[in-house]
Amino acid sequence: MDRITIALAKGRLGEQGLELFENTDMEIMRDEDSRKLVFQDAEERITYIFVKPSDVVTYVEKGVADLGIVGKDVILEENKDVYELLDLDFGHCRFAIAGFKDQKVYRKNEVLRIASKYPRYVEQTFKDRGQRIEIIKLGGSVELAPLMGLSDVIVDIVETGSTLRDNGLVILEELDPISARLIVNKVSYRFKYAAIQKIQKILGGI
Ligand code: PRP
Repeated sequence: MDRITIALAKGRLGEQGLELFENTDMEIMRDEDSRKLVFQDAEERITYIFVKPSDVVTYVEKGVADLGIVGKDVILEENKDVYELLDLDFGHCRFAIAGFKDQKVYRKNEVLRIASKYPRYVEQTFKDRGQRIEIIKLGGSVELAPLMGLSDVIVDIVETGSTLRDNGLVILEELDPISARLIVNKVSYRFKYAAIQKIQKILGGI
């Protein structure tokens, strides 16, 4: 089998992704406390690298990693030239516009200020809506922005809804559903087809 490199998002999504390889010949032994970022299976055919979620698509697009496991939110935001092979059916959440109850998402003749970790996704979402917007890019704790008057609304991922609830915000509009996806580099898909198919079968449970 061809050697394959798989990029995993550091954190819960990557850990869940790795669990899919348990009890297969691609399983790896790890010291959970280690800060190591590269691991190989016993036969050194598979290399797993742990990177920031937004970097998974970059590693795959550039071909440094053949495959990647990452959330659809990151794929939509990064808009990179990769194939999406599988919906892995975990890490379910959704994009939403959120704000204070009864707040309007449409404001004629006014600029809607939107705080988000996903500026490109926001731009795309509002492209054809005829609403003038100002995007305020934040790195996290986005729910704070309306509370502090930094923005009118937010666009963020919502999983359980408890962060919104605990900060007195509600969903004003549901946007795209999100889950973990298997992505592949376009060249790898052609030249390492058999190995990638094998992994796709394992992950897809087929
Ligand atoms: C994400 C997201 C929301 C929260 C949603 O943030 O940006 O804030 O989780 O989850 P919930 O609906 O289950 O409450 P994350 O935990 O990644 O932290 P961050 O705000 O620092 O990015």
